[in-house]
Amino acid sequence: MYKNKSILITGGAGYIGSHLAKQLLCTTDYNITILDNLSTGSRDTLDRLLLFREFSFIEMDLNDFEKLGELLRQNSFDCIIHFAGSIVVPESVKDPLKYYMNNTVNTINLVKCAVESKVKKFIFSSTAAVYGETDQLPEVGVSESFPLNPINPYGMSKLMSERVLEDTAAAYNDFRYVIFRYFNVAGADINYTNGSLEPRIGHRFPNATHLIKIASECAAGKREKMSIFGKDFNTPDGTGVRDYIHVDDLADAHLKAISYLDDNPSDIFNAGYGRGYSVREVIGAMKACSDSDFPVETAPRREGDTPAIIADNRKIKSKMGWIPKFDDISLICQSAYQWEKTND
Ligand code: UD1
Repeated sequence: MYKNKSILITGGAGYIGSHLAKQLLCTTDYNITILDNLSTGSRDTLDRLLLFREFSFIEMDLNDFEKLGELLRQNSFDCIIHFAGSIVVPESVKDPLKYYMNNTVNTINLVKCAVESKVKKFIFSSTAAVYGETDQLPEVGVSESFPLNPINPYGMSKLMSERVLEDTAAAYNDFRYVIFRYFNVAGADINYTNGSLEPRIGHRFPNATHLIKIASECAAGKREKMSIFGKDFNTPDGTGVRDYIHVDDLADAHLKAISYLDDNPSDIFNAGYGRGYSVREVIGAMKACSDSDFPVETAPRREGDTPAIIADNRKIKSKMGWIPKFDDISLICQSAYQWEKTND
């Protein structure tokens, strides 16, 4: 008899987790449990997800080891998808222990509980920050075998968790993982109502630091102006180049990973489009799609910023059969802007 798969999503009230939850809730194949401490995730996002279909929500911090162990013993989850974590690079430099506790210690404990409760699949959100300083130019993508050399505690905290997963899977035959190294995730739910783009969920993040989020706040009139951090990088127009991936495409990769693990070994995949846009190009795309002309200043380089990093995404495409649908910087900006304009 066919049984629905039970999925635990940590950080499911947050940005990327909620976009995956939306996709899972759009099918009837999965029973979903979202675990979130609501530190950056929001109740409003959960309410919006309920419009798709029912799911369980547990408000819990992953540092509550006892409760977490109990939760996993009481439910037989087929798969854990672990998004919960801290993600702001400058904060990780100021408060490294927060990052090692939240991103590494809590992940180790979650993996331990997963193994003890016989959970067979684990999907983990890692980051391109594990590659650290790259002298790569935009046209040369970084592959998964590129040297790992995180230059900040955030990247290191994720890399340490990657290693924990690798060693654990090597020791326990029944435990498999997929690790995704995210490049620059942006945009909001691609949903059209009567022909117009109306995202139902999007990026909520207080004191945003991400380029597209900040540019969309300017376009929506929530922020007066923005800065370009550095104009003298060794890139075609002198500003930083990144590989921006739409959040719905990234969520789709996670969806694929669930069944991929049925008959494939554990593996690590870059998640990006394999092409780069400069800060100037992104701001240009945001201004064009919003028809606004907010002021942009030049500021010194931000500490720790690499000139350019783009993904070599051949592995995720060939092994997992992932086909991006929204590889379009103007659609990414437009969805971010529409979300920003219509939400507080
Ligand atoms: C981001 C995340 C990091 C994540 C990585 C890969 C932060 C600070 N960084 O890195 O956690 O691992 O993606 O997924 O959360 N820029 C401006 N003006 C701004 C904001 C940004 O010029 O107001 C520039 C930056 O200097 C950089 C580019 O825009 O060149 C992208 O910056 P950002 O969106 O913060 O992402 P990353 O630093 O690349």
